[in-house]
Amino acid sequence: MAAQTEPQPIWKLRLNGVVLGLHSHSLLSDNGGFSATQLQTVQTFISTSKIHLQVSPFPLLRRRSIEKLYRHSPPRRWHWPEVISVAKNALQLVASQEGIEFKFKEMPVGGAALDLNGVPLPEETLSAAKDSDAVLLGAIGGYKWDNNEKHFKPETGLLQLRAGLKVFANLRPATVLPQLVDASTLKKEVADGVDLMVVRELTGAKGFGTNENGEEIGFNTEVYATHEIDRIARVAFETAKKRRGKLCSVDKANVLEASMLWRKRVTELASEYPDVELSHMYVDNAAMQLIRNPKQFDTIVTNNIFGDILSDEASMITGSIGMLASASLGESGPGLFEPIHGSAPDIAGQDKANPLATVLSAAMLLKYGLGEEKAAQRIEAAVLDTLDRGFRTGDIYSAGLKLVGCKEMGEEVLKSIDSKVAAAL
Ligand code: IPM
Ligand code: MG
Repeated sequence: MAAQTEPQPIWKLRLNGVVLGLHSHSLLSDNGGFSATQLQTVQTFISTSKIHLQVSPFPLLRRRSIEKLYRHSPPRRWHWPEVISVAKNALQLVASQEGIEFKFKEMPVGGAALDLNGVPLPEETLSAAKDSDAVLLGAIGGYKWDNNEKHFKPETGLLQLRAGLKVFANLRPATVLPQLVDASTLKKEVADGVDLMVVRELTGAKGFGTNENGEEIGFNTEVYATHEIDRIARVAFETAKKRRGKLCSVDKANVLEASMLWRKRVTELASEYPDVELSHMYVDNAAMQLIRNPKQFDTIVTNNIFGDILSDEASMITGSIGMLASASLGESGPGLFEPIHGSAPDIAGQDKANPLATVLSAAMLLKYGLGEEKAAQRIEAAVLDTLDRGFRTGDIYSAGLKLVGCKEMGEEVLKSIDSKVAAAL
């Protein structure tokens, strides 16, 4: 039972020719924006972890470790974020089953950081994130800060965090689960079986503002250097190779210079991946094709802004943006794992949010961030089992199923994680 060792280098993930390495498991989780939760202040937690060689499968022990975690949680006035706490519990439970121990640390970012520190990304938060093995993030915005100047917007904190962690490859899977096909806004025959991955470049199209002649103007410049296109293209080719071997590069090469270079480089790199079938599509057409016939797509690679838009569109095919997780990876250092949805301030704090995108982000964290494939599979299987048992939050509800809130959904996911282990004993 629970013999334990000190933290040590535990995995190396080879991604697109780049080796990502981590040491021990620690997480920075921020639920920064009141995400589907509410929060007026956000909190982030980082956890550092140690590895257990073995763990007892005895359920009560696992529960105890979760309670312990709660005891160490921050004061209630911090409005414990609904969705992050669900994901954190799931992480703790599968970790105990797999012999991993996480240590969490919470740090503010986004709106919470603005309220607490006056800036959207305090230095301490960034350095804690960098010192972690992985970062789990909620959402970062809310009505309260909508009219802030750019440097004081919660979103700026997220962009700074991504830049600070040097994550450039954002993987956004969109899969229509058989259990949720009726929740899709598309006809069943169109949505059924959709399983695609958007590989979004995460650093391009930073904003640069300049005033001319005293007149206020706003513009953003998309700049992509060859190496930036190459590295995201390689991630995409590798991703496609592990999937169904089809890669569609989405750009606007008929108009935009950055897209022209993008297409040229992606085309040139294709010769290194003979087993991947490459196609190109203009973004306006891609937006249409995603609705017309989404099953034609396997892996999509695209720039920052198109990826932002198309991944939201893809989420609707799956039934709800409340289901979509994401992983942001760099060449080294901790990855950043977050649901693609925002802070949903209209339902924040009402126990209505769907925690599954965050739970599935935790699964991506285990898989892509820590190389803990089996633990990731436990979470994914538990989400499917919970849906199979008929539990639905409002965003994915259909008649005849069991409507639950965020908290209860989380409890059911934990039960599913437990029952899978019990069944295997
Ligand atoms: C996303 C969001 C962010 C982005 C915002 C909140 C900065 O829309 O993660 O998709 O534009 O990347
Ligand atoms: Mg977005």
